[in-house]
Amino acid sequence: MTTRHFLTLQDVTPDEFKQIIKRASELKAIRNAGEVYEPLTNKVMAMIFEKASTRTRVSFEAGMAQLGGHAMFLSSRDTQLGRGEPIEDAAKVISSMVDVVMIRTYEHQTVETFAAHSKVPVINALTDDYHPCQLLADMQCFFEHRGDIKGKTVTWIGDGNNMCQSYINAATLLDFHLNIACPEGFEPNQTLVDENKERISVYRTPEEAVKGSNLVVTDVWASMGQEDEQEKRLKLFAGFQVSPALMDLAEPDAIFMHCLPAHRGEEVSDDMLDDPRSVVFDEAENRLHAQKALLEFLLVK
Ligand code: CP
Ligand code: NVA
Repeated sequence: MTTRHFLTLQDVTPDEFKQIIKRASELKAIRNAGEVYEPLTNKVMAMIFEKASTRTRVSFEAGMAQLGGHAMFLSSRDTQLGRGEPIEDAAKVISSMVDVVMIRTYEHQTVETFAAHSKVPVINALTDDYHPCQLLADMQCFFEHRGDIKGKTVTWIGDGNNMCQSYINAATLLDFHLNIACPEGFEPNQTLVDENKERISVYRTPEEAVKGSNLVVTDVWASMGQEDEQEKRLKLFAGFQVSPALMDLAEPDAIFMHCLPAHRGEEVSDDMLDDPRSVVFDEAENRLHAQKALLEFLLVK
């Protein structure tokens, strides 16, 4: 049997995606009721990080512990990966000792190469191109606050990179429309846009893009690895800030999400995260529940 990986949302079917979201809400209820549920006793997860993290590390590590398993934090700085050990060799060795691997890298190709040489499931915990785990949490959050997202309109504002590209995948899987407003030169991958073009409308201004929207989403203007471009991007992304005034142009029931960490005063106004329409902290908490559902989906037969 081939090993099941989760490198992008395209690794699950629409039904599986919805099943994971539903299960995430059930696991949330189990945890909130204080019940012990440990289907992953004796299972070990390796967590490989080339980049920084708060939410992803804490949610996976806590999630594995709550499911009865164990998680091992491996920074590429402190392992032989940081000293040039080939990713293929590392994948063979690490996957011979653990039951699942979570990996956060710069290049998406690194995750693909790791998975190609891994004996156990590999989970993409963010690459420069995709952040599928975040979409599990975001979609769980939308379902919990507003019900099924099918037929709704979502607006993405900002950089067309990893988060935006995972929203494109989610739009096709869950059957919603995605309006995208990016500054010129920061659009998502054109092939991905072309492949999903019935689901996507591209706008030049956030004001046009949020009209008719039920969910507005943004992210930092300079992602991890782009710190040198911070100053330049502040200028190029001016006008793309999400604020309560911009939210007023969306549907009256619109909610706001941001994967966090956020830069107040840049992609979000100082008051946006605390606006009643913001669900960012529920969204962040759902990383825990959604990833536990994903781990159960991949590891419990
Ligand atoms: N949203 C998210 O992935 O956060 P971290 O970078 O803190 O893991
Ligand atoms: N686009 C951001 C997401 C952080 C969770 C980054 O890649 O840094």
